[in-house]
Amino acid sequence: MKVSDIRRTFLKFYESKGHTIVASSPVVPGNDPTLLFTNAGMNQFKDVYLGFDKRPYKRATTSQKCIRAGGKHNDLDNVGYTARHHTFFEMLGNFSFGDYFKKDAIHFAWELLTEHFHLPPEKLWVTVYAEDDEAYNIWHKEVGIPADRIVRIGDNKGARYMSDNFWMMGDTGPCGPCSEIFYDHGPSVQGGPPGSPDEDGDRYMEIWNLVFMQFYRDEKGEMHKLPRPSIDTGMGLERIATVLQGVHSNYDIDLFRNLLAAAKKAVDAVSETPADINSPSLKVIADHIRACAFCVADGVLPGNEGRAYVLRRICRRAIRHGYKLGARGPFFYTLVDAVRKEMAEAYPELNNPEIEKVIEDEERRFLLTLSKGMEILEDAIAKNKDGVLDGEVVFKLHDTYGFPADLTGDVCRERGITVNTEEFDRAMERQRAAARASAKFKMAAGLAYSGADTVFTGYETLDEKDAEVVALYVNGDPVQKVEAGSECVAVFNRTPFYAESGGQVGDQGEAKNDTSLLKVLDTFRVKAAVTGMQCHVAEGSISVGDKFDLHVDEARRQATQRNHSVTHLMHFALRTVLGDKVAQKGSLVTPEATRFDFSYTKPVTAEQIAEVELIVNAEILRNVPVSTRVLPIEEAKHTGAVMLFGERYGETVRVLDIGKSCEFCGGTHVKATGDIGFFKIVSESGIAAGVRRIEAVTGMNALAWVQHEESLVARTAREFKAPADEIPTKAADLLNTVRTLEKGIEQLKSQMASRAGDALISEAVDVKGVRVLLARLDGADAKALRETMDKVKDKLGSAVAVLAAAQPDGRVQLAAGVTKDLTGKVKAGELANFVAGLLGGKGGGKPDLAMAGAADAAHLNDALVKARAWIEEHL
Ligand code: ALA
Repeated sequence: MKVSDIRRTFLKFYESKGHTIVASSPVVPGNDPTLLFTNAGMNQFKDVYLGFDKRPYKRATTSQKCIRAGGKHNDLDNVGYTARHHTFFEMLGNFSFGDYFKKDAIHFAWELLTEHFHLPPEKLWVTVYAEDDEAYNIWHKEVGIPADRIVRIGDNKGARYMSDNFWMMGDTGPCGPCSEIFYDHGPSVQGGPPGSPDEDGDRYMEIWNLVFMQFYRDEKGEMHKLPRPSIDTGMGLERIATVLQGVHSNYDIDLFRNLLAAAKKAVDAVSETPADINSPSLKVIADHIRACAFCVADGVLPGNEGRAYVLRRICRRAIRHGYKLGARGPFFYTLVDAVRKEMAEAYPELNNPEIEKVIEDEERRFLLTLSKGMEILEDAIAKNKDGVLDGEVVFKLHDTYGFPADLTGDVCRERGITVNTEEFDRAMERQRAAARASAKFKMAAGLAYSGADTVFTGYETLDEKDAEVVALYVNGDPVQKVEAGSECVAVFNRTPFYAESGGQVGDQGEAKNDTSLLKVLDTFRVKAAVTGMQCHVAEGSISVGDKFDLHVDEARRQATQRNHSVTHLMHFALRTVLGDKVAQKGSLVTPEATRFDFSYTKPVTAEQIAEVELIVNAEILRNVPVSTRVLPIEEAKHTGAVMLFGERYGETVRVLDIGKSCEFCGGTHVKATGDIGFFKIVSESGIAAGVRRIEAVTGMNALAWVQHEESLVARTAREFKAPADEIPTKAADLLNTVRTLEKGIEQLKSQMASRAGDALISEAVDVKGVRVLLARLDGADAKALRETMDKVKDKLGSAVAVLAAAQPDGRVQLAAGVTKDLTGKVKAGELANFVAGLLGGKGGGKPDLAMAGAADAAHLNDALVKARAWIEEHL
């Protein structure tokens, strides 16, 4: 039987038993922050078990896409090295929501295995939870499994309910005792029966887990009874396929044989030596491409946190295994098509061509760092003597080469080497402390420097040969020498590095000589004419008296200059358009943009902005030379240059002539206005009373901005299926329609909620002889809840009820009701207050009806489960 036939047979069998075939939910669980990835078939039904989500069926069957990498069920590290661990797998399951229970679940499973899959009964073993006599008796007395093939397993994992035969979805959620079915591969395979000391062998393989859902575990670990006992089962499709295809390893089933062949072909295409079809690395690749393809198909993109990081990790792990097999170019993304061939019929979401693009992008990016990282790691492993890898090496790989620590760990595990994680953690902490210290240090101005002024040569040149170190500081204290790996502030006798001032950021770049290399991270003024360069000593050392060649990062400086020069043109244009009252209040000029604050009492209109852009770009097109003059201050004042209010000027000042603008300025500038390229204002806003802020970009940044805006318009136009010109009308029409629909929905919801009263009656359960109803009517407002509550109480006669409605804004509206005969025991006010309290709210009211509101709808289900316990206590 092929994998696809097994899937079909399973679903059809349960359909014939009254189950609705439900599509797999995405691998990213909707609306469940407790879960990283969908890890079991029951995930999509979690709220149905809790009684808060109603479906038109009480029996369902699915083939569910699951990922077990990260989170409670994490198999990532085992994949490739065992016969049956996967990051991605399919789980076949059947579910009963308060309908049938143990008896039918067991009989169905037995019938499918023995009559449809034709497994010999004597090859099947079962386990039950030690206390579960009911399940034991069904297997033994009804199905007829001899006692010596039924194993009872109790709390064998160190705490109450921690057992191989007690299944939990995660730290919180529905759970219950379970019964597992095992297949005996026969004495030729190593291993003992379940529960025996050598159960980990391959002879007895678990194929199916029948969970008897009875409890809900809350975040404190307390168990609450579910409203109705239910069924959740899970059978790994790949595992049952091994049994039905008479093979031992999941990698020998048809689907994986095809994926392995495709993986070999893809790796061989970019490798000098052909890969061994039996190598674990190929298995890793064949496994991981499924996880990656399905993740991307369901909307996950590789990144640095949460799911995105798990995807990146899986992707990089596969690529690294390809590298191990000799692959030296991208291959991984090409395998998406092989997955598609095997699985797109059952999962059409795989037909999205974006999947390849996303994986290829990640692959190409990672390949850039992989080979350098591997070289360093191989070297460190070769030199290693005691089987423990230096944590500093792991840190260096991570910090300098972007080679993730978990990947280093993975390589080490293969070589039987452990990583000194304490050392690694210390290095990480050191780095964080250094970052904190340098941030703090830069703020602490006023280093004790009393030497000569720095000669600034950065107006004319970006390089300075043989500059001499005249002072060094570490953490604010003067020192004579600094070694590689540390940070310091260096003062040189001459420097082309511009120190942050007049709004222009400090330069970055490098300093080197024959023995040492410094990365210059920032430049600032130690005093008026003394320049401090914040340096990271990358190689060698630096001592007072040393000579270095200094080199400013040219691209960064030029981008900064474009933005600085344009600021003057913009200031001039603003005064032309808005009037002379415009005065500069502050500015920040970086390589990315210029930010200019100025006095003006009204928002600047779109037309005025356009005019400013026009004037500035006209000056740029004129391409006039920029010139500077250094003049005694009194003389400078006669030039008419604009002096900035609040600035203090020395004896001599620098006057900048750029286009029609003439201002005092000490910054660095372009040679001619044409160098600016293109100017675009990207935002205008008010930042204080009478002060406006404009942000603008130039050169390539301006081009990038325009291209980005253009792509937004194009995307929107595509969504609207209309030319760009028609977007505004289309959007206005759409908003009108939405408003009308919203009104209609409000009315419908309110009507539905009040009618739902009738349907709700059947949801009530019996608690100590009293009808208790806990229900969600999401979207209903307070009025609808109150009306529904009246109906519910009327119909139930003698009852306690909580109706809760999550609101579109994430808040919760609650109503608690108690029929008059019971108000002596349970007070609606207290009940409402209890539930609201769990959700960060308060409530109260009369003993028979109380309303409450709360902020936090995310934990509503949990709160309702607890409400049930609370009611039970009080009855
Ligand atoms: N949810 C159960 C499992 O995953 C069936 O094993």
